[in-house]
Amino acid sequence: MAQWHIGIIGGSGLYHPGTLDEAQEHTLESPFGQPSGPITSGRIGGVRFSFIARHGAGHRLSPSAINYRANIDALKRCGVTDLLAISAIGSLREEIAPGQFVLADQFIDRTQSRDRTFFDGSIVAHVGLADPVCSRLSDWVGQAARQAGAMVHDRGCYVAIEGPQFSTGAESRMFRSWGGDVIGMTAMPEARLAREAELPYALLGMVTDYDGWREGEEPVAVPEILRIMRANAETARAVLVRLAALLPSVRNISPIDSALEGAIITPRTQWD
Ligand code: ADE
Repeated sequence: MAQWHIGIIGGSGLYHPGTLDEAQEHTLESPFGQPSGPITSGRIGGVRFSFIARHGAGHRLSPSAINYRANIDALKRCGVTDLLAISAIGSLREEIAPGQFVLADQFIDRTQSRDRTFFDGSIVAHVGLADPVCSRLSDWVGQAARQAGAMVHDRGCYVAIEGPQFSTGAESRMFRSWGGDVIGMTAMPEARLAREAELPYALLGMVTDYDGWREGEEPVAVPEILRIMRANAETARAVLVRLAALLPSVRNISPIDSALEGAIITPRTQWD
């Protein structure tokens, strides 16, 4: 019987001892290098969860220094079936206010210096990314977040910037004119790699600021981001408890489970 095993890639503040029953910490190596840190696996109700802190213990990895490939590879090796990313984001829209949550469903990738594929060796694959997010997982996360008392926007186009600096005012206004709704520094290449790893991916963003476009608003700054993240950490944990209760007891297959079928162009005879 197919079981859910939800991988959570989140901020260091998200995981608390006691969140998971029967929690066990695993330190994994990956052929792609070192993951951000250990993976903590355990259960909430009947559902298995595995957490990794994206920026490492003590938030020591900048968005450009995170080994996204190793994180996703390590979670896959742990047996994760689906991935939920939780991260702080800025808002590019008046109606998306700090303190609210957004389920991103599209991305504009402005990152520049990150390993963005598992297929840079002798095997070439082109996976589809027209719909980069798993709507099934995203819908359940949305329901869970509402039950946990969050104000949730069900869709949004996420602009991924390289950072670590925030955007200039001109960039922020340009991203708005492109159709961006929210902005962050980590969803890319995470979402790309999740698809290559055949892991359905959803992103729950916690809105912390209005970036740098809004007249009369203090531009984004770290102390305010941290304040809102702390205020919302309990809600984010409650989302996971609700999600565990909402997921059907059997996990039906998703088309994303076989995203590589038909995507690999190198004939099998050429693989080494
Ligand atoms: N993370 C939180 N707020 C952000 C912003 N305004 N830009 C980029 N990343 C963010």
